[in-house]
Amino acid sequence: MAETIIDIEQLTKVFYTDEIETHALSGIHMQIQRGEYVAMSGPSGCGKSTLLSIIGLLDTPTNGRYQLNGNEVANLNFSDRSRIRNQEIGFIFQSFNLIGDLTVAENVELPLTYRSGMPVAERKKRVQESLERVNMAHRMRHYP
Ligand SMILES: Nc1ncnc2c1ncn2[C@@H]1O[C@H](COP(=O)(O)OP(=O)(O)OP(=O)(O)O)[C@@H](O)[C@H]1O
Ligand SMILES: [Mg+2]
Repeated sequence: MAETIIDIEQLTKVFYTDEIETHALSGIHMQIQRGEYVAMSGPSGCGKSTLLSIIGLLDTPTNGRYQLNGNEVANLNFSDRSRIRNQEIGFIFQSFNLIGDLTVAENVELPLTYRSGMPVAERKKRVQESLERVNMAHRMRHYP
């Protein structure tokens, strides 16, 4: 049975800068089921990044409803949002946002260091496995 993981209704986002109002999103409806693969396309400035930032809990909507995995996102506090970003969401930025003075392995490891209770050996093992999966293990000790 389909399980809705992302459920968005009548979502709007307005940016206010120097007395200019930009209506970046105007009434978005969207449902994504578990296991579904979705791509969004559209002209520059149509609101793709704005919508992804809201879906990824990096930004908040001006109006409308967003349920993630059955939870009303508006009711999540700061630490709930941080935990979900850390443990449930993967986000690849257009500009990568890698940290230049950390190695490839340290960049991959960094989000895991914010999780309490994961032993260092487990962390190192996961980093190794993740990099092997994308044929990057030979670059572990390089810088981005
Ligand atoms: N922080 C912000 N402050 C003010 N306006 C913004 C902000 N972020 C985005 N906008 C405006 O909102 C609209 C949507 O921008 P957005 O970056 O979401 O578009 P996009 O579809 O991702 O474009 P691109 O294909 O160029 O990446 C644009 O008009 C943009 O100028
Ligand atoms: Mg964009």
